Amino acid sequence: MNRAVNRNERNINVCTVLIAATLLLLCSITLISRIQKLNTDQEWDILLFVQRWPNTACMEWEEKDGKNCTLPKKSGHWTIHGVWPTKLGTKGPTFCNGSLPFNDTALDDIKDDLNEYWTDVELGGKHKKDGFWRHEWVKHGTCASALETLNSEEKYFKQALAWLNDYNMMQVLMFEQIHPTKTAVGYDAVSIAKAVNDAVGKNPFIHCVHDTKTRLPFLSEIRLCFDKNLVLIDCDGTKVDKRNSPLWQSGSVLTNCPKGKLIMYPSNVPPKTRRLAPVAPEPSLLNLYKCIVFLQWFTS
Ligand SMILES: *[C@@H]1O[C@H](CO)[C@@H](O)[C@H](O)[C@H]1NC(C)=O
Ligand SMILES: *[C@@H]1O[C@H](CO)[C@@H](O)[C@H](O)[C@H]1NC(C)=O
Ligand SMILES: *[C@@H]1O[C@H](CO)[C@@H](O)[C@H](O)[C@H]1NC(C)=O
Repeated sequence: MNRAVNRNERNINVCTVLIAATLLLLCSITLISRIQKLNTDQEWDILLFVQRWPNTACMEWEEKDGKNCTLPKKSGHWTIHGVWPTKLGTKGPTFCNGSLPFNDTALDDIKDDLNEYWTDVELGGKHKKDGFWRHEWVKHGTCASALETLNSEEKYFKQALAWLNDYNMMQVLMFEQIHPTKTAVGYDAVSIAKAVNDAVGKNPFIHCVHDTKTRLPFLSEIRLCFDKNLVLIDCDGTKVDKRNSPLWQSGSVLTNCPKGKLIMYPSNVPPKTRRLAPVAPEPSLLNLYKCIVFLQWFTS
């Protein structure tokens, strides 16, 4: 009787040990594969240098959250969104190194330039003070820092400022008669992409946002691509964000902007309550092939 109980207990003990061992093994396998996944996830192919049109960014921000936004002091120039390490055919990686926290004093020397050219349009709403730069550094900079040329905040932020200077989208587009307009004159994505390609010799990615009030697409970002030697390359192979309409290609135009629709490039932030009403075209714009609709912002 006693012996039988002992044997049962021993069996139970053996069972427990076996189950525990199996669980441990399974856990380690999952852990190891997760660590491996983490490491491979941090690999990337190219850098996306993202310039944004602040008037569109502001409109989008005010639209989404009913907030006010911050614009650069001087109007009429593009600002930086970020420098994003990117694996071709997908997004990211992001948040690569938790041991590289954002240090705001490291940027003291270039704060004025950052305020003007890497403007935190969403300041006060989404971001706290320095929040935009902190976000871009922690999310993207810690991945870019795998390169020796970008392995500090100073290098990362200064490189973006240098690229903004070298690839000034206001000048690039002006050269092809594409300028911000007070009336809602549209340009098509092909002309915009072509203007950039003519100026820099490589394919950009043209990014649009869709305004729910006017149902019009707005020019939001122009993305240029660089290889790991920081040499400008075509953006071919980069993917759009999930929430955007699918990428279309016409010749070599990379964009999420709707095909065949005219894109707005507003010279000021469209009023919060806006609708469109037809107006007579400015004579100087009449013979421009790009201009098909002539509409004016109306505040109701
Ligand atoms: C935004 O600005 C308007 C006009 O300047 C002001 O009336 C409103 O209170 C501001 N809203 C917020 C959320 O700061
Ligand atoms: C993260 O950054 C630290 C500090 O610079 C560095 O020593 C470490 O190698 C980095 N880790 C990875 C995975 O890059
Ligand atoms: C932050 O940057 C400043 C200026 O480069 C440097 O003196 C300081 O040691 C840094 N702080 C940390 C915590 O790394």
